[in-house]
Amino acid sequence: MSAERVLLEVDDVVVQFGGVTAVDHASFVARAGRITGLIGPNGAGKTTCFNVISGLQKPNRGTVRFAGRSITRLPVHKRSRRGMGRTFQRLEAFGSLTVRDNVRVARDIHRGIGGLVRPASADVDGLLERVGIAAYAGERADSIPTGVARLLELARCLAADPRLLLLDEPSSGLDESETDAFGELLAELATEGRGILMVEHDMDLVMSVCDDIHVLDFGRVIASGPPGEVRADPAVQKAYLGYSDDAPAEPAPVAGGHAPDDTHVMEAIRA
Ligand SMILES: Nc1ncnc2c1ncn2[C@@H]1O[C@H](COP(=O)(O)OP(=O)(O)OP(=O)(O)O)[C@@H](O)[C@H]1O
Ligand SMILES: [Mg+2]
Repeated sequence: MSAERVLLEVDDVVVQFGGVTAVDHASFVARAGRITGLIGPNGAGKTTCFNVISGLQKPNRGTVRFAGRSITRLPVHKRSRRGMGRTFQRLEAFGSLTVRDNVRVARDIHRGIGGLVRPASADVDGLLERVGIAAYAGERADSIPTGVARLLELARCLAADPRLLLLDEPSSGLDESETDAFGELLAELATEGRGILMVEHDMDLVMSVCDDIHVLDFGRVIASGPPGEVRADPAVQKAYLGYSDDAPAEPAPVAGGHAPDDTHVMEAIRA
């Protein structure tokens, strides 16, 4: 594939919470038509980067550009109107609505019609079909399994037809075959020209679907490149393997990163 257009640029972003530097002069890009992974140990600053990109967190310094224009000062809704869609690590669907109505509401909000004019239900059902949860269309969102809820998040995001998708831990709760199908769907979405930036702990998925990967550790980008290169990078191996020999019995403080549930990540990196 030819060099694709840069869609998102994070340039020298710093975020401080009191004494904690959550994002430390981070710079990276995501391209249209490509799947970009943002990985790193727990507490590395991945979600904070997403919050800066989507407008929920004001950076202490640095710039975010989308399609060549600075969006650093734009509010969340204007970023989404420009074509940025996001899913959350914590699920955000309306529990008392059905799966279908959750997607319908997301689409209506995007169209700015407050639900007064319903879109053809085929659009919504088509999206449910596409992400593989059509069988749950009539179920209440608070009664569905976590894996289905993750896919519902994706359908809600796609309802706004975004040019860039920011996906925070999209595969957690999916079983192996659901994860495979999800990987195929991501590839298809990228083929349509959408950019995808994904925070994900499932290293098999990351290594198999991503075109490029950026690795964060203590808020800094310690490596960027295609999967094979990143996996072989000594700094990456050190970041993941640093404490693996004697994993602490108690969870490590989040501020320090490297919490014990990164074990599977380290195994994948080591493989
Ligand atoms: N609102 C906040 N107030 C204070 N500290 C915060 C806040 N949000 C995040 N942090 C701290 O910033 C650092 C980065 O957190 P962040 O949630 O971005 O990490 P992450 O890479 O998404 O981790 P995980 O893999 O566990 O989701 C952590 O030390 C965290 O404790
Ligand atoms: Mg996070």
